[in-house]
Amino acid sequence: MKIFNTKQEIKAYLTSKKEENISIGFVPTMGALHEGHLSLIKKAKKKNDITVVSIFVNPTQFDNPEDLVKYPKTIENDIKLLETVSCDVLFFPSVKEIYDDNIASEKFDFDGLEHQMEGKFRDGHFDGVGTIVKSFFEIIEPNRAYFGQKDFQQLQIIKKMVKKHRLNVKIKGCPIFREEDGLAMSSRNTRLTKEHRIAAPFIYKTLKKARKKFGTENAIKVTEWVTKQFKKHPLLDLEYFTIAEEKSLKTIKNKEFNNKYRAFIAVFAGEIRLIDNIRLKNH
Ligand code: PAF
Repeated sequence: MKIFNTKQEIKAYLTSKKEENISIGFVPTMGALHEGHLSLIKKAKKKNDITVVSIFVNPTQFDNPEDLVKYPKTIENDIKLLETVSCDVLFFPSVKEIYDDNIASEKFDFDGLEHQMEGKFRDGHFDGVGTIVKSFFEIIEPNRAYFGQKDFQQLQIIKKMVKKHRLNVKIKGCPIFREEDGLAMSSRNTRLTKEHRIAAPFIYKTLKKARKKFGTENAIKVTEWVTKQFKKHPLLDLEYFTIAEEKSLKTIKNKEFNNKYRAFIAVFAGEIRLIDNIRLKNH
């Protein structure tokens, strides 16, 4: 695997590859890699001649400074994992290399997608995500880029950015990877205390029950039921639960036939904020 730390070096390398008409798959990450990331890399490898992974803990997308400082950093292990899946290129730049001395976001208009859910609770988060992903697309110029559906809102926002800015890259959304007990894989899971780690699968269990209830009840009733379940839980604090349309991410009250919905959730397990979502059936 080739490792580059500067824009100039990776650009020079990929430009020489593009001259050979080679397709590039890109998987942006913040490191602390797990099976979920590896599944994205495996997908990229199947469809593209070269797969590039970036590891960069992007400061502009953190609304909580402590979360940024404590975000797990495991570069040596990450490199070993990348080698197990035969990743071709790792881009591992410093903050200075990307932002120089101006650690700030560009302002984006994602047609309202940014004001829903995570956008309400994480100020400036999606401007930070848009800034870094757009910048990586400009450096790497991938043919396809891969994102997990755990961050479903992020995925929709990136698709919107690509469309609005007419970027020449195909965005591929990939299924959520889960631990055996159902907890959605996340780099932040390693920061859970033992107690909270044991409690956390309750999130997905509740999502599955909510999906079942949505078969016979309206969105308001299901939301009330979920809220109640978390009120009773001694270790998990619900930040939000909402049933929304997949396309607009707007909360719904009643379902319409032929529309696609998902339930979205954010929960604090002690200091650690976990998110998850589930596709719903609308009949
Ligand atoms: O999903 C993530 O890990 C990050 O938001 C991303 C897409 C790598 C941008 O920093």
